[in-house]
Amino acid sequence: MIPNPYRSHHCSQLRAEHIGQTVTLAGWVNSARDHGGVIFVDLRDREGLTQVVFRPEENAELAAQSHELRDEDVIQVTGKVSKRLEGTENSKLGTGEIEIVATSLTVVNKADVLPFQLDRELSNEDLRMKYRYLDLRRPRMTNNIRTRHRITTAARNYLDGQGFVEVETPILSNPTPEGARDFLVPARLSPSKFFALPQAPQQYKQLLMVAGLERYFQIARCFRDEDLRADRQPEFTQIDIEASFVTQPDIINLVEGLLISMFKAAHGAEVPLPFPRITYQEAMDKYGSDKPDTRYGLEIVDMADVFADSGFKIFKSTLDNGGVVRAINAKGFAGITTGQMIRLNELAIEAGMKVKQLAFIKVERNAEGVLEYKSPLWKFFGEAEQQALLAKLAVEENDLIFFYAGTWDDACNILGRTRIEIANMLKLTEGSTALNFLWVVDFPLLAFSPEDQAWVAVHHPFTRPKTEDIPLLEAGEYGKVRAEAYDVVLNGYELGGGSIRIHERELQEKMFTVLGVGPEEQQEKFSHLLDAFRFGAPPHGGLALGLDRIAMLACGEDSIREVIAFPKNNKAVDLMTDSPTNVDFKQLRELYVQSTWKPKPKEADPVA
Ligand code: AMO
Repeated sequence: MIPNPYRSHHCSQLRAEHIGQTVTLAGWVNSARDHGGVIFVDLRDREGLTQVVFRPEENAELAAQSHELRDEDVIQVTGKVSKRLEGTENSKLGTGEIEIVATSLTVVNKADVLPFQLDRELSNEDLRMKYRYLDLRRPRMTNNIRTRHRITTAARNYLDGQGFVEVETPILSNPTPEGARDFLVPARLSPSKFFALPQAPQQYKQLLMVAGLERYFQIARCFRDEDLRADRQPEFTQIDIEASFVTQPDIINLVEGLLISMFKAAHGAEVPLPFPRITYQEAMDKYGSDKPDTRYGLEIVDMADVFADSGFKIFKSTLDNGGVVRAINAKGFAGITTGQMIRLNELAIEAGMKVKQLAFIKVERNAEGVLEYKSPLWKFFGEAEQQALLAKLAVEENDLIFFYAGTWDDACNILGRTRIEIANMLKLTEGSTALNFLWVVDFPLLAFSPEDQAWVAVHHPFTRPKTEDIPLLEAGEYGKVRAEAYDVVLNGYELGGGSIRIHERELQEKMFTVLGVGPEEQQEKFSHLLDAFRFGAPPHGGLALGLDRIAMLACGEDSIREVIAFPKNNKAVDLMTDSPTNVDFKQLRELYVQSTWKPKPKEADPVA
């Protein structure tokens, strides 16, 4: 091996057994302290920290030189590994028993004063993003990036071991519908035409199955112009998988093994197999969400039987008109503050509640020791109804019960949102290390969009209806058709989604037609796929996992920005490189593109 001129060891390597050796280390000054003329430097490289000491009595010139060191200077130090003085060892550090007594120091590169200190958490995210390369020096971030690398490597190895072939598909491509807006790229050589960046390599991977590849994967960059959240970026990474001659259980088993290997690589976690499976209907009924967090109960309970003849007219008439009445018992939350109650009602209104307040009952003991049911509704319920309610919800002292009466959709949205917020308020997941994976299966194939007044695909248009439900599709009973689709969920996050696909041309055409894509548009946008299905397309299916979300959860972070080296902020801007950026007129002219954007009057330059 060629000796490295900069270092003999990393800053995490030296132990008592190295005492007496002369070593050379290189890295950044993590901190420098002057203890009565003796300078202690914590030297940092990507692996860890080592204490270096400069003693004036041993080398006055060197000690004077070390006195000039500032945080984040890049230095190289040679010296002797020595035992730390008794009582000064640092048991928290792997190298805490030793220190390097320096015999030479080279300042490789001086650092200016940093815009923020690296050893403190910084709440100003914009500043972190502007100087992301400094932010990434912090051990938390370095660990996150390295954990992500281990996860990706584990995925690659696992899939390779299962016979999957890694294939890169184009970034400059045709639009593929995944429910977001496309990022478009003008094509200079085809004036007035545009490429779309892939929202997912969905059609390419299906075409690879027609090509006979049988087992494909890709660590694929995807681009979606959609509203950003903590778990969404405009560009993100999928572990994208497709296989031929498989059924839903094959994909589910494969992905369970894959996820286990990824989480094991991240932090050695063992997760029992198989993951629980629940239907979409059950997930929505019980948790009001198709990505339920099952680390806590707070289940939504259907109260139709209790309130079928309710003395409370709103409940009864809702049920008579085909609606639902549902409840959540927030155990032990009778002490909710006014502020918390306001917050819950605000969220319920955001989720579609038409009235100002969720109906509630607080169960508290009064000064006389009598259990009271404090509620605007309680007095309307008959005696039998009250007893049935208490039994059904297993009500006890200090419970707080919320009700919602309305459509099934609204009840799911409103109580689902309420459930999550109650869990946050009660800190039900704080400190939890549970990894509650689960599969949601039997999704509906189609949903009716009131805004578009049209049927839309719940997953995407290539998803296969369940064979036994194809007659319902033929009969126009679109809302009843279930899909061969499945999502994998962890602790309330959708980690991935997939399906068995349509591989017959006629069925695919039928699906497009139901989605309002007429024959001409089908030809214009999807002829490659429809044609491919004419030439012997095997049955196939797959799934894509969100790598960023997996890394986020494995690292215990609550935003995917913390596990992406150079993310965009919540306005989809990269503050470090200041992109997106203006382009000059000449570039636009070459692309036959003209901007029609005009600043809003208040932003306009008053002189212009
Ligand atoms: P889907 O659209 O469900 O499926 O995406 C799969 C997974 O990708 C992740 N994901 C995102 N992660 C970060 N930022 C985003 N903006 C973002 N959007 C999605 C999620 C999600 O579960 N082609 C299909 C897969 C298939 O059918 O095989 C698809 O893309 O973790």
